[in-house]
Amino acid sequence: MKQQLEAIRAAAKAAINEAQNEQVIEALRVQYLGKKGELTAILKQMGGLSPEERPIMGQLVNEAKQALETKIAEKKKAMAAKAAEEKLKAETIDVTLPGKASKPGHLHPLTGVTNDMIDIFRSMGFDVVDGPEVETDHYNFECLNVPADHPARDMQDTFYLAENLLLRTQTSAAQIRTMETRKPPIRVVCPGRVFRADEVDATHSPVFHQMEGLVVDKGITMCDLKGVLEQFAHEIYGPETKVKFRPSFFPFTEPSVEVDVTCSECGGKGCRVCKGSGWIEILGAGMVHPNVLRSCGIDPDVYSGFAFGIGLDRITTTRYKISDIRLLFENDKRFLEQF
Ligand code: DAH
Repeated sequence: MKQQLEAIRAAAKAAINEAQNEQVIEALRVQYLGKKGELTAILKQMGGLSPEERPIMGQLVNEAKQALETKIAEKKKAMAAKAAEEKLKAETIDVTLPGKASKPGHLHPLTGVTNDMIDIFRSMGFDVVDGPEVETDHYNFECLNVPADHPARDMQDTFYLAENLLLRTQTSAAQIRTMETRKPPIRVVCPGRVFRADEVDATHSPVFHQMEGLVVDKGITMCDLKGVLEQFAHEIYGPETKVKFRPSFFPFTEPSVEVDVTCSECGGKGCRVCKGSGWIEILGAGMVHPNVLRSCGIDPDVYSGFAFGIGLDRITTTRYKISDIRLLFENDKRFLEQF
């Protein structure tokens, strides 16, 4: 019986040492120490022993039982420690590795320039207004002193959607909508897309962008227009920029001017960009025509105003020295990522 006990103990010890996981250990515990286990079976055989042998054998079995219990507990502990260590190893993060930089997006150069211009005009007290891209003949032409048979309609090739419904050719339409809804003093800018049936080339696109400006109040003069536009040009291009006002014609202003700034590429010496002239045209402007004020119910004998329409694409291309307007609309990331 003693030999049998020794054999069981040795086998159990070896099996526990070999065990790879908790389930195997548990199965071994049941196999040796359980109610129907091998050690328990030996205890049950003790009835057949002599009274002298019985306590000795009992003690041996108990010793074996305790030894196995200790062994199992130790093995379980070791396995838990090993599992914890493996988990830590698997989850270890090397905080010294360089991070993966995520590329933040940024504004399209045209949007950036528009926002900068809005800031400049806001600082001079202008509000920002919005207008529809689909306009009626009434707002885009009629009220701007361009009646149906007026030759000035030839200046702007228009996309008509239906009779009297068109894609606005100029943000000037927003002037009328503003004067219809606001009373002087009025100081607004309206940035937005405009549309003309133009052939696409390096400086023309059927979709382009303008920012309209309108000021109406008592006693507004050409001096105010000059001051505002000079301030604007200096903020956008730098204080050394010179501004030139050339007489021009627009049906909705009288007098009318076109405004040039010294070429941002050559500083006025003359280069490829300014075609040797040293100047770049950036906007049209003038004193609001009395007919326009009248068509919006504003008395031209009491109020006067000035208006301007700035080409946003031109401001963007000259500011960033972009040689072709088409680059602004192609959305090639390799181009856009440079700004
Ligand atoms: N609407 C004109 C254009 O698209 C630009 C312009 C000229 C706007 C004079 C104005 C202005 O407000 O007063 O060519």
